[in-house]
Formats: sequence, structure tokens, C-alpha cells
Amino acid sequence: MPEARKHLLLVEDEAPLRQALAERLGEHGFDVEQADTGEQALEQLAEFAFDIVITDLRLPGIDGTRVLESALARYPDIVGIIVTGYGTVKDAVEAIKRGATDFVTKPFQFDELLHALNSALEQRRLKAENAYLRSQLQERYRFEGLIGRSPAMRELFVLLETVSAAASTILVTGETGTGKEVVARAIHHNSPRRAQRFVALNCGAIPETLLEAELFGHVRGAFTGAIGTRQGRLEQANKGTLFLDEIGTMSPGMQMKLLRVLQEREFERIGDTHTTKVDVRVIAATNSDLQKMVAEATFREDLFYRLNIIPIHLPPLRDRKEDIPLLVQHFLKKFSSQESGAAGSRSEPPRGQESVARNLSISQQALRCLMAYPWPGNVRQLENAIERAVALSGGRTQIETSDLTPDIQQASQTAAAPDVNLPEGGIDFDRYINRIEHDLIRRALEKTGGNKGQASRLLNLKRTTLVEKLKRLEPRAGS
Ligand SMILES: Nc1ncnc2c1ncn2[C@@H]1O[C@H](COP(=O)(O)OP(=O)(O)OP(=O)(O)O)[C@@H](O)[C@H]1O
Ligand SMILES: [Mg+2]
Repeated sequence: MPEARKHLLLVEDEAPLRQALAERLGEHGFDVEQADTGEQALEQLAEFAFDIVITDLRLPGIDGTRVLESALARYPDIVGIIVTGYGTVKDAVEAIKRGATDFVTKPFQFDELLHALNSALEQRRLKAENAYLRSQLQERYRFEGLIGRSPAMRELFVLLETVSAAASTILVTGETGTGKEVVARAIHHNSPRRAQRFVALNCGAIPETLLEAELFGHVRGAFTGAIGTRQGRLEQANKGTLFLDEIGTMSPGMQMKLLRVLQEREFERIGDTHTTKVDVRVIAATNSDLQKMVAEATFREDLFYRLNIIPIHLPPLRDRKEDIPLLVQHFLKKFSSQESGAAGSRSEPPRGQESVARNLSISQQALRCLMAYPWPGNVRQLENAIERAVALSGGRTQIETSDLTPDIQQASQTAAAPDVNLPEGGIDFDRYINRIEHDLIRRALEKTGGNKGQASRLLNLKRTTLVEKLKRLEPRAGS
């Protein structure tokens, strides 16, 4: 999308300098209006919503600080750049504190101003984009604690909306860290049972005999150490939801007992002769392939069908990369606000300096790395990566590639080939690959001043391999 021309107000009392700047800014695509006094600038600002104001600090009459103040008061998003004479840097810093984006000191090269201008515009664009992403986070792309904008996640949100209302048993499958437990909680909190308890039991974390006692409870004297009568998780979850995690680890004996609960909605506490009735909704989760376990006869087929009434599958994060930027925003917000919370609890913030969360963004390059990485640990691993990055970013306002672990940093380099247009007539594959090899080698040699040893290390090639490739490639160098 071609960007619209930016409207710029240039305030400078030295006419020759002003005219020269206006001309060059015009050549760079800016639509420039000029003002030679602060008074005139205020009038122009009152009538027109400029994108940018560049103002000299020292002006006869109303000075640059006032011009900037009035511009910002009218247009909070305006980009303000201060031009100052030698010796007034302190005033310029003051202006930045009041909301100017940058300053340049006279005498300056035009490129210096242009650079300040472009990076200020880029900053403003990022700010707007982050604000946009944040507003989306609040709107369509979430369901309870779940975030996502990929088609798979949006379909999931619709499904969750409908299945929450029912009481049917649900089986949630997906790799580790894909959000199975978040899904289970989201269903509970969106169901008519939300006022009752959500009880979670990880079947993989406890030995079989304990699991049975945990699930069903026991009466006094049921086994050695059973001092009193104790409610099991099933009873605790009565009228609410029972979340059975890692269901694939259940022993055959427990599988049978669970099947009965699902069928009859009743059970006995261990050692009890009395049957207890329960009304629970069961949500089970697993990262193993239950269907395969059924085929191998390690998981009961009848139980599988009882659980799998409504199957919900969470795709791995690498198959829904579109969710990554949104998740990153979400975790940045989470960890930067935790950070300020922690700071506040340690000591009182100085007067007038409220402890506010850093408004953290992320560089496009760092985001590219995150999107190229395969995430074997899925969302949980991404969450940990962002927590680490926030901690490493110190007081900065932007996460950089260097805040990521080396394997994530490298991900974008081993990513896909550069965007190749595949024309109707096709391409010459070998020639294309040769071309890429040649390019990489040329760049490595350029970077190392022609040193083949260093170049081969940069490319992680043996020196002899590099030399061989050079020999093979050189005749084609001109092609
Ligand atoms: N779509 C999502 N939006 C926001 N946070 C998510 C999402 N998916 C997962 N998370 C977060 O990732 C972490 C892991 O999620 P969860 O514990 O639900 O994974 P899991 O599938 O149960 O993993 P495991 O199989 O290892 O138990 C949690 O901190 C959760 O908050
Ligand atoms: Mg889990």
C-alpha cells in the first residue's frame, strides 16, 4: 500500500536555511508548509492537522517549545522534531521530555535530519501498530484465556462457545504446551457450571494406588494410613467440571473404573459399601495418540469412545504461525506488568513517579526469528522465551534479537529461501541454487575482506569446500 504523502510544518526564522530545507524535504516526498515565526506556526497548526512539525527552538517571540506544546496538545500523535543551536542541547532534552520525538543540533547535515525524521515516523508507525494489536487482543481474538487469530483458533473459539453450554464429555488432544488445560478451563468458565468448582487431576503425576484414592476418596480404615474419611476429586467436582490430564497414562484397572463413572455417574469411595452419585462434566486431555494406543490394546476402546464424544485438537504452534505476533504481545504485556508490580512491592516509588509497566514492543527482526522457530514446546516455550527476553531487555522499550536464545536467533537464518517468484515458464533450479551459493560466498568474502579462512568460518564450511565452490562458481560469476 503506497503511503500517503506526509504533511510537514517547518518553523525556522532564518529564511535561507528554511527555504533550503523545505526544498530538500520536498524532494524526499514531504508536503512542506513553512512558518517564520512561532505565532504563524500556531495559526497554521490551528487550521491543519500536520503529521510532522520541525521547529527551531530559538525563535523571536513565541519559541519552539511553545510551538511543540501547542502541536502536541492538538495532535497527540504528531511527530515533533527540534532543531537547536549549539549550546542549547539542554533545552532540546527538555523538549524531548515534553514529547518531542528527536532533535538535531545546528549545524547539521540534511541526512541527519532525514534520518531523525524517518526513524521518528517508524517509531510512530510501530506505536500505532502495537496499539492496534493490543486493541485486537481485547476484541475478537480471544476466548477466555485463549488467544489466537489463525483460522484453526478462530474455529476453535466457535466450537468452544457451542460445546461449553452442553454437559458432554470432551477429549482435548495436542502436543505439550499447546494450551489443553487453558481450553479445559475456558470451557468450564463459559459453561452453566462456572459457579461450581473446576477440579484438575494429573493422572500421570501419581502412582496408581494413590490415583485411585485421589479420584474416589476413601472411608476411615480403608487402608493403612486412612485415618479419616476423605472426599475424592470426583466428589469435589460435583456439579462442576473434572479435568483429567494425561489420561493416556491410566492403568487398565483405573481405565475400567473410570469407564463405569462415565457410564453410571456413580462410584464407591475406597472401603465404602455405599454408592455415591455425582454430576460432573469430565474433560480429559492427552498428548499421546489414544487411537494408536487403542490399536495396540494399551487403552480401552470403550473408554476412548466414551471420552471422545467431543474431540478438540490443538494444532502445534508451528502450524499456526499467525498466532505468534498476537501471543507475543500478550506475553509482553503480561511480563512487563509483572515486572512493575514487583518493583512496586519492593519499595515505594518516588513521589510523582508512579511505577508504570514499560510499554514494551518487539523489533521486526526479533519477531521474524520467533516466527521461523519450530517451537517443540509450543505456547509454553514461547511464553518462557518472552519472559526471558523481558528480563534481559533491561530498561529498554523494545525487545531485540539479542534478547532471544541463540537457537531462536538462528531460526530465521535457516528459514525459507528468499521470496522467489515462480514464473509460468518455471526456473532453472540448479542455476538458481548456484546463484544463492555464489551470493552467500561473495557476501562472506566481502565481510571478511577477502579472507577465505574467515569467510568459511562465517558460513560454517570447511575452507577446502569453500575454495572448491569458488572454483566451480567463478566462471558463472557474470551470469
Ligand atoms: N492460545 C493461548 N493463548 C494464551 N496462552 C496460551 C495459549 N495456549 C497456551 N497458553 C499458555 O501456555 C502455557 C501452556 O498451556 P497449557 O498448560 O494449557 O498446555 P498443555 O497443552 O496442557 O501442555 P502439557 O501437555 O505440557 O500439559 C500456559 O501458561 C498457557 O497459559
Ligand atoms: Mg497440561
